[in-house]
Amino acid sequence: MDNNKLIEEKFVVEINKVDLIFNKNSKKEFKALEKLDIKIRNGQIFCLLGPNGSGKTTTINLINGLLEPTHGDITVLGMKPSKSRKTVLRKISLVPQETALYNDLTARENLLFHARYYGVNRKYISKKVDEVLGIVQLKNRQNDRVGTFSGGMQRRLALARALLTEPEILLLDEPTLGVDVQSRNAIWEQIRTLALEGKTVILTTNYMEEAEALGEQVLIIDKGKPVKSGSPNELKRYIGQKQMIIHFTDTTYAKQVYDYIAKDYDVTFKGNQLNVNTNTLNIQFQLLQQLSKYEKHMSHLDYSEPNLQDVFLHFTGKELRD
Ligand SMILES: Nc1ncnc2c1ncn2[C@@H]1O[C@H](COP(=O)(O)OP(=O)(O)OP(=O)(O)O)[C@@H](O)[C@H]1O
Ligand SMILES: [Mg+2]
Repeated sequence: MDNNKLIEEKFVVEINKVDLIFNKNSKKEFKALEKLDIKIRNGQIFCLLGPNGSGKTTTINLINGLLEPTHGDITVLGMKPSKSRKTVLRKISLVPQETALYNDLTARENLLFHARYYGVNRKYISKKVDEVLGIVQLKNRQNDRVGTFSGGMQRRLALARALLTEPEILLLDEPTLGVDVQSRNAIWEQIRTLALEGKTVILTTNYMEEAEALGEQVLIIDKGKPVKSGSPNELKRYIGQKQMIIHFTDTTYAKQVYDYIAKDYDVTFKGNQLNVNTNTLNIQFQLLQQLSKYEKHMSHLDYSEPNLQDVFLHFTGKELRD
């Protein structure tokens, strides 16, 4: 049991109280990250959610050793990434925000080039390229020039390229930026599959739907500071409850019912609807039973629950995308 516990508690990435200051001690000094704390478990999908300029790419660059913390420390697979960059880069792969592919080469040529550059064993290169093209479902377009690919296809090819080196950790900086819903869903599916196969996936996004759909652990950051972290459900629970919304045929009845139940329920009155805060089905049943005499004046029921947009608004006082 102790052994399991040890394995469970092992973090593949640990960021402890990190500040990152650009142009320190000059007029242009800028604190891009402040007191950042992140702990990521093996095989987890970790999601950094924040608006433009909040420090997502800067964090990714710390993890892959391009930047060094000004204060605090960071370890990746037990190593300091900026000190052991070569070794770390053998175990992690980055899909950067700007998909740097060669437009004049075909998809396959891009992958072959990358595989050779990163020293994938020549004997297996062709097989490996086939495999990753299969994973991102681009086999049928492998001989087309990348310049003719849509944005979504280019993102998928960039993901395939990152998989060539069989990384333990995947760093995905805004993996679905600007791609259509269909490509987005394909990328989400691939990310989930990779995590199920045991890879740790660290992704950044400013789409709250993405954080909600993928993130097992989500850290919201704003202006370089951690705002709140937890699973999407935990984050939503911080700020409130589910609501049952009862729609009436007429405002008069909504008001009547409001007066009738307001002392017993956490309810607000809005036009011809009542919003009742409640997390349990039991209470919802009880209330509906109590209101049976108003049934013919009710048109329908709705349910709503807070989303990460609401969480962001709650903790920062502004919308995720202003
Ligand atoms: N090399 C640098 N020198 C000075 N400031 C920088 C540098 N790189 C980033 N910054 C600043 O740090 C802040 C965070 O930038 P970062 O690129 O990490 O944001 P981001 O969350 O990735 O934003 P986006 O969603 O637009 O990609 C920004 O204000 C940016 O201007
Ligand atoms: Mg960025």
